[in-house]
Amino acid sequence: MDDAPDQFLRELDGLLGPRGLIRDPDLMAPWLTDWRGRFSGKALALALPASTTQLVQTMALCARCAVPVVPQGGNSGMSGGATPDASGRALLLTTRRMDAIRTIDPAARQVTCEAGVVLQALHDAVAVHGLRFPLTLGGKGSATVGGLISTNAGGTQVLRHGAMRAQVLGLEAVLADGQVYSALTPLRKDNRGFDLKQLFIGSEGTLGIVTAATLRLVPGIADRLVVWAGLPLLQTARALLLHCQAQLGAALEGFEVLPQPCLDAVLAYLPDARAPLNAPHAWHALIEVVAEPSEAASLRDRVEAALASAATQGFLDDATLSSSETQAEAFWLLRDSISAAERARGPAMQHDIAVPVERMPDFIDEATRTLETAWPGVRAIGYGHLGDGNIHFHVGASAGSDRASWEAGQGKAISRMVHDLVTAWGGTISAEHGIGQLKQAELERVGDPVALHLMRRIKAALDPQNLLNPGKLVVLAPGSGNA
Ligand code: FAD
Ligand code: LAC
Ligand code: ZN
Repeated sequence: MDDAPDQFLRELDGLLGPRGLIRDPDLMAPWLTDWRGRFSGKALALALPASTTQLVQTMALCARCAVPVVPQGGNSGMSGGATPDASGRALLLTTRRMDAIRTIDPAARQVTCEAGVVLQALHDAVAVHGLRFPLTLGGKGSATVGGLISTNAGGTQVLRHGAMRAQVLGLEAVLADGQVYSALTPLRKDNRGFDLKQLFIGSEGTLGIVTAATLRLVPGIADRLVVWAGLPLLQTARALLLHCQAQLGAALEGFEVLPQPCLDAVLAYLPDARAPLNAPHAWHALIEVVAEPSEAASLRDRVEAALASAATQGFLDDATLSSSETQAEAFWLLRDSISAAERARGPAMQHDIAVPVERMPDFIDEATRTLETAWPGVRAIGYGHLGDGNIHFHVGASAGSDRASWEAGQGKAISRMVHDLVTAWGGTISAEHGIGQLKQAELERVGDPVALHLMRRIKAALDPQNLLNPGKLVVLAPGSGNA
């Protein structure tokens, strides 16, 4: 019998110590299935390095023994990127013990922290200094800085502040051979050749393991208001968005939409929650507006004026404005619970798409019509980040469908149809959640061949043994799923 894995694990145990290596299947189990419950895998063991030094030693050992590594943060990703395959050959490596905030520099408005810092903890740590980290999302209680960087996460403030890529000033990563790429220097200008840190942002753990980052912060806000508006059409939401941008300028921080069935699903999922408006509406918009200290006194008046003129012009049917921070949070809870509520509803194919923002309402209409005609009984819904032209387009199975066979059969054909439509409309099959294993074959099918070729060349150059997250995002031998 091959005793190489045992020898490898003995050496790893020596490097990481008892808190740094888990082999008990019951303790590993929660980390071997993704958040949506779509993918499950096996792993040789779960490594929990406590420092960059330990991670370097781990990676060097993996390189020497040719053991693949699947990096994992909070395991809240939506594309199966942090789930190992079924072979059990890979080491699952979590950064969750690397959760130190190294420095906060209030004057420079920067924080340097380790990859395992959870987003909510980052928000709390910088708030003490009167600062904000301007990115948030529903998974903030689990998502880590390393995971957010590796998926170039978006969320509900991209409209004003941009996605994760816009927040990363510097980065440290461990490469496939155990070297450390150290670029934490937060220089605002630096033209010494390629901006290599960009390679690690959005590369889903296939090029290196992010161990720390320097992130941009913005001043804390003095006040915020959340508007909940009822609308007849998604086209109206687009008109309302343009109106709010014109009326509220930089105060407009988020603009999210959801259709009535989505709100109904959330209300069924959260028994204590209440609908913000008295009557149902075909669409709902959630609008976040914030004020710096100098503008806080006039915020409510400005928002009320913008809503009144929107109503006059037919851009909304009804609206309510949060009257307290508790109510603002309650509105956001409804929005942030959509994923969990949709998950509880039964089998569905989730698509994370963007088309040019002005075309999105028409795209959703056409895609819904096309899919529901082609597969009677399925239900299509789109919700999310209309302000960024990024909608989560879910197609749910007809009642009584068996999950596994539906996903592998009709569900797969549905996803192909959605991706073909998106491509024909000049869009992307992944605007937010990345490719992972969920969309890897589809990226190969509809992706730009030149871009795919370049990604494979970069992958081969940085990870010639194909040890970092094999089978995810970019595979060296197309069509194999695993190189
Ligand atoms: P994981 O799920 O653990 O990993 C994600 C990917 O990154 C995997 O490929 C993994 O291998 C890799 N990875 C993780 N850590 C590292 C590291 N240190 N170095 C290298 N690679 C690494 N996402 C959005 O973009 N916008 C949203 O609005 C949004 N809302 C969400 C709402 C809910 C309720 C949930 C559950 C998730 C949501 N997500 C959203 C998805 C998810 O939160 C993000 O993708 C997040 O960035 C994942 O972080 P994580 O630490 O959980 O990463
Ligand atoms: C959201 C996740 C699914 O926007 O990205 O809720
Ligand atoms: Zn989203």
